[in-house]
Amino acid sequence: MAAAAWPGTLGALSASDVDLLEPTRVTTSRPAAVIVLAAGEGTRMKSATPKVLHPIAGRTLLGHAIAAARGADPAHLAVVVRHERDRVAAHVAEVDPAAVIADQDEVPGTGRATECALDLLPSDLEGTVLVTYGDVPLLTAATLHDLIEAHHASGSAVTVITATLEDPHGYGRILRDEHGEVAGIVEQKDATAEQRAITEINSGLYAFDATVLRKALAEVGTDNAQGEKYLTDVLAIARREGLKVSAHLVADLWQTEGVNDRVQLARLGAELNRRILEGWMREGVTVVDPASTWVDADVTIGRDTVIQPGTQLKGATTIGSGVMLGPDTTLEDVEVRDGASVVRTHGSLAVIGEGASVGPFAYLRPGTELGTKSKIGTFVETKNTTIGEGGKVPHLTYAGDATIGAGANIGAGTIFANYDGVNKYPTVVGDHSFVGSNSVIVAPRTIAPGSYVAAGSAVTVDVGPGELAVARGRQRNIAGWVARTRAGTRTAAAAEAAASEAAATSPTDRPDAPEGTPAP
Ligand code: UD1
Ligand code: CA
Repeated sequence: MAAAAWPGTLGALSASDVDLLEPTRVTTSRPAAVIVLAAGEGTRMKSATPKVLHPIAGRTLLGHAIAAARGADPAHLAVVVRHERDRVAAHVAEVDPAAVIADQDEVPGTGRATECALDLLPSDLEGTVLVTYGDVPLLTAATLHDLIEAHHASGSAVTVITATLEDPHGYGRILRDEHGEVAGIVEQKDATAEQRAITEINSGLYAFDATVLRKALAEVGTDNAQGEKYLTDVLAIARREGLKVSAHLVADLWQTEGVNDRVQLARLGAELNRRILEGWMREGVTVVDPASTWVDADVTIGRDTVIQPGTQLKGATTIGSGVMLGPDTTLEDVEVRDGASVVRTHGSLAVIGEGASVGPFAYLRPGTELGTKSKIGTFVETKNTTIGEGGKVPHLTYAGDATIGAGANIGAGTIFANYDGVNKYPTVVGDHSFVGSNSVIVAPRTIAPGSYVAAGSAVTVDVGPGELAVARGRQRNIAGWVARTRAGTRTAAAAEAAASEAAATSPTDRPDAPEGTPAP
């Protein structure tokens, strides 16, 4: 095939031709497309879950790959699927509804995968096409941007991201000609002993001229050790056509490392976490112990927040500034506003108000909304519960389906009994009301603003404004009961001793609270 049949790149042209063709030169760094390959099986994960759906830092491997691809701002983004096709495709549709899902047919290999994606993209697609992998999660959009810049600057038809590895085993090796120009890639299984000694490897990430890629793939066969249609063969074909092929060497090896097994999953997960934490520390967040702190990719954290050891921030969690977090706290999809303090707490889908105080040992379940300067204390569980400004639930409480007003105080050991075994019901406690310790409030119930519930009450009737509800058995003190029924015990002896001591002092000195006085 003549070089003239290969339009679209300057690499094939002499310097004098450049001026003539200048107007067609790619002037935008925006790629025409990014194709993410994710059809492979990933058997070494030994998992019922497809490899690319395993998560690190709160996103699947594929989610990270798509985020980097989308960050390059392509006109089209395609993901190639095959293994567990429906699950992977559904995930792609969820994380990036605009992505094109391309099914790879029974022809194996990275070249065929790329071709299947191209077949779904516009047939007149021109410009730069990037190819990336769904199992390379630390690659950044910035690196793809650098790749495109280098690709354009060198006027190449193909630019491949390469890395130099001490142990290149398993990777495709970069072949260079006598001038040091990239001549092609040979796979491990097809390489000679001499080629296997090459330490510059193919990362599998490339920039291609779209037209060159399409035409070259049509020529690629499967006559190789694996019987696959290799994408890597495109480089030698482009070279044969007199087009320029370049390598873009990346020093940050993490960005080109793929996940093949769970050991690598943990390794790359830890490194990604380290990078995320470093980013936040540079933004003014104190992380006391980065080794025991895990922050997902989509979390945001304000300045002067201090994170104590053993803290995990997951999902879409957002943390304000000046927040004290941890130790030993896990928050998933939680909003923590400025100046709040959250200690030894497990929370999900909750909002913690400005200056609020939570824990130690609190469990905030979905639908919890804590107002400004409110307080949730030790051994408190909340679910679908709102607390107004300055409201307090300091100790040993379950609050489910409750609306607790501003300045209200819920005594130690209060239970909001919201479930009758069939249905759940709400409870309202009005502003500045006071529920005494160890009460049970049987929902649906309204305790009006400015009211009291006596300690130990089982509240089954609504309480009006200004009322004190006392809902417990009256106390009776039965004189002489110990002497009559426990004679000869140490208890009886203690009673006798106390009685004779009391008799020795004036009876009027004896404190004696009348029965029924509320002790809320
Ligand atoms: C490929 C490269 C090799 C490179 C290595 C880097 C080829 C022929 N070889 O190796 O030079 O050093 O990547 O990791 O390209 N995939 C598909 N469809 C397929 C096969 C693979 O979508 O039919 C996807 C996989 O899901 C994976 C990626 O392509 O995301 C790479 O596949 P993998 O089998 O790991 O790479 P190799 O072919 O071994
Ligand atoms: Ca392989």
